[in-house]
Amino acid sequence: MDNPVLDAIFSRRSVREYEDRPVEPALVKKILEAGIWAPSGLNNQPWRFAVVTSPEMISKFEPLTRYSRVIKAAKVLIPVFVDSEAMYHQVKDHQAMGACIENMLLAAHSLGLGAVWLGEILKSESEIRFLLGIDAQYHLMAVLSVGWPTQKNRRSNRKPLDDVILYRDCEL
Ligand SMILES: Cc1cc2nc3c(=O)[nH]c(=O)nc-3n(C[C@H](O)[C@H](O)[C@H](O)COP(=O)(O)O)c2cc1C
Repeated sequence: MDNPVLDAIFSRRSVREYEDRPVEPALVKKILEAGIWAPSGLNNQPWRFAVVTSPEMISKFEPLTRYSRVIKAAKVLIPVFVDSEAMYHQVKDHQAMGACIENMLLAAHSLGLGAVWLGEILKSESEIRFLLGIDAQYHLMAVLSVGWPTQKNRRSNRKPLDDVILYRDCEL
């Protein structure tokens, strides 16, 4: 069955090594557009973004995470925030943010780019807001690191479906 959406979901991997060549702004824009087309409760669209491409600013993120090696190689960083003033429900707004971020990862993959969702860097939220001059009403949800992937066989694994289905009343 030819199904580009499922193909993208199954073939996307976290990419942490990138080639030394820039990512065109038009591609970054597509990634952001994919993010904002995620579903959100009441369609409140609580996501906000920063786009960081200058090597000087990217390098300022290096000491903020133990994944400095990833940051060092990145051509684009996209810090993703939730706007606390746009929120209406803690759980549902955070779910919407996850949908937004996954849309962005899939969009990057579909464009031939590589990306990884960085969460460990959340410990440096206040430093990141300070670096970018962003107000405390915006809470950091993730930093996406993006670039052209190096040639590398990237593998991942998942638990078998049977281990994660709690109830079923049909054969799958
Ligand atoms: C909430 C969250 C936080 C993550 N934080 C990091 C991180 O800080 N550094 C990193 O290298 N990968 C991070 N990842 C990527 C995961 O390690 C990765 O998605 C997982 O190992 C599965 O691999 P795959 O994405 O290639 O399928 C994070 C993913 C999620 C969803």
